[in-house]
Amino acid sequence: MAAPKILVIPGSLRTGSLNARLAAVAAHALAQAGAEVTNISLADFPLPIYDGDLQLKSGVPKNAVNLKRMIGAHHGVLIVTPEYNASVPPLVKNTVDWVTRVQDMHEARGQVFRGRPFAIAAASQSRLGGSRSLAALRLILSACQAMVLPNQLALSFAAEAYDDMDRLKRPADIEALAALVRQLIDVSQRLM
Ligand SMILES: Cc1cc2nc3c(=O)[nH]c(=O)nc-3n(C[C@H](O)[C@H](O)[C@H](O)COP(=O)(O)O)c2cc1C
Repeated sequence: MAAPKILVIPGSLRTGSLNARLAAVAAHALAQAGAEVTNISLADFPLPIYDGDLQLKSGVPKNAVNLKRMIGAHHGVLIVTPEYNASVPPLVKNTVDWVTRVQDMHEARGQVFRGRPFAIAAASQSRLGGSRSLAALRLILSACQAMVLPNQLALSFAAEAYDDMDRLKRPADIEALAALVRQLIDVSQRLM
């Protein structure tokens, strides 16, 4: 079977981001499992805070259109999000909001999410590992009619979760990442 194309999106721009680190480890695991992986930074797609007046005046920003097309060019997506005050950070929500406003020719608005497999993961120094952010992101993506996969990874005490080769070291995390990778590849492949 052909390799599915998987887009990995870390939900943080911060230097030394725990979520960018987990995204890189997940991207590596996806590639090892046979996917063709693109790991992007949202720093390359800067967007203003969504404002309906701005959209009316200037249209949807080019970066939202480019990101929408990049999502559309992949069979599956992995979002690795921080948790801010028990929810998703504004960067993640604002990016999803703008992308849902993109409407290419002969498409409904937000069509790029519909039926597309999305896996979600989070990393945090807390014991919950960002799991409340995952609950919020699951709700948001489900409302966009994405196919949000049941498996997810909430990486707790994330700064201490790696060995000196930058591999996850706790068996539960290793198993959760492997299950997430397997499911994202399987479902993406089935829908190719
Ligand atoms: C505004 C704000 C709110 C936060 N709220 C939470 C929270 O509710 N739960 C949590 O686990 N961490 C929380 N944190 C800590 C983040 O998990 C931590 O800063 C993490 O490193 C951010 O992800 P990053 O390293 O990928 O940038 C919060 C951080 C900020 C800046």
